[in-house]
Amino acid sequence: MANRMWGGRFGEKPDEILEEINASIDFDRALYAQDIAGSKAHVSMLAKQGIIGAEDADKIARGLDTILSEIEGGKFKFTRALEDIHTHVEARLAELIGPAAGRLHTARSRNDQVATDTRLYVRDAIDRLDKALAGLQHALAEKALAHAATVMPGFTHLQTAQPVTFGHHLLAYVEMLARDRGRLADARKRLNESPLGAAALAGTSFPIDRDMTAKALGFDRPAANSLDAVSDRDFALETLAAAAIAAVHLSRFAEEIVIWASPSFGLVKLSDRFTTGSSIMPQKRNPDAAELVRAKPGRIVGALVQLLIVMKGLPLAYAKDMQEDKEGLFDALSTLALMIAATEGIVRDLETDEKRMKAAAGEGYSTATDLADFLVQKLAMPFREAHEITGKIVSHAAANEKPLHRLSLAEMQGIDKRIPQDALSVLSVARSVASRTSYGGTAPKNVRAAARKWLKRLGK
Ligand code: ARG
Repeated sequence: MANRMWGGRFGEKPDEILEEINASIDFDRALYAQDIAGSKAHVSMLAKQGIIGAEDADKIARGLDTILSEIEGGKFKFTRALEDIHTHVEARLAELIGPAAGRLHTARSRNDQVATDTRLYVRDAIDRLDKALAGLQHALAEKALAHAATVMPGFTHLQTAQPVTFGHHLLAYVEMLARDRGRLADARKRLNESPLGAAALAGTSFPIDRDMTAKALGFDRPAANSLDAVSDRDFALETLAAAAIAAVHLSRFAEEIVIWASPSFGLVKLSDRFTTGSSIMPQKRNPDAAELVRAKPGRIVGALVQLLIVMKGLPLAYAKDMQEDKEGLFDALSTLALMIAATEGIVRDLETDEKRMKAAAGEGYSTATDLADFLVQKLAMPFREAHEITGKIVSHAAANEKPLHRLSLAEMQGIDKRIPQDALSVLSVARSVASRTSYGGTAPKNVRAAARKWLKRLGK
């Protein structure tokens, strides 16, 4: 038999290979709730506009409710022969209520239907991601407050640069995640227009009320151009771009965790709950969760690139190519959710080795800048000159295999006799971080205030 939904002009049934390449039900079944919600909004609009009778509309709405509970109860039968979620719902509706089911698709096409469903799906996903990101920010801000004065090495080029506080480092991610939430919120704002009623591509001759369906589905307004409404996927691209950036942020943090937890660094300890053992080396504690957070962005960036390539050069309006928007998109959104959940778990359980952190913070002549700054302030020396003198002091310390704070005043004065006694006091890491009180700086006082501000803003 030819396809029940569109088989009127077809004599032969579809080839098996066509069915395999064409059917999207294996993945677009994820849209069932949005599809049914869209159909319910559509049918009550059709009835209110007098396009279909109230009795039929009622039957359709009740049938749709039954289908929803069948799907949610795992009792619904999916088959590739029925192509996609839209045809599945309609075919089942016909089984349940008979010919009245055939009125549901009046003044609508699968083109505006799938665009509507996908927007609703992405909107829900954005709302969940926003909540999850806020939860992660909260976990980071709490840790940051607890570690406002914990010193650790700050790196540039992954070389010890200057001491920073662990809380300050964590709050850097809170800022990044705030921008990620902002990008997702922007995408949500732009995507929240209803394609429903654009029909196949040209609109419809039926007296539909697009404002009514838009409102019923929580959209801000109907999309203004029917061609654009069915062919736009930039809402998905924009969301994927925002998701990719967020994923990249999480991967940077994950990589830092992996480095810090390596015994050669030994700055943090991960919990048993987020590490695994080795089947051969009994001593191992592997940071698998962090490693996977580090690796997962490939899927999300991949989904973005894949959809960009699908859309590139695609003529208006709908083309079946666009069915390829879904698998990568769905996978990307759930992957990001999993990455956020794993990162939050890692952060909440994370323990620090403060002794190691402090010792590492003082390695590599990390307070050399403090000495140079001190010479500038104390002796009114130009910074370049102070930099030169400090460089010589560092070189002397290195030649004698000593850290800066183990140098005597006599040794320093051997390099420049103007160096005063209290120069020794600026060489400690605690003093170094405490002095960084400029706006946005790493001083414990700043970090405490910033962490409190975030915790207040995030609630709880
Ligand atoms: N499964 C299709 C998709 O996801 C639905 C739209 C089909 N439209 C069509 N004209 N065949 O894109």
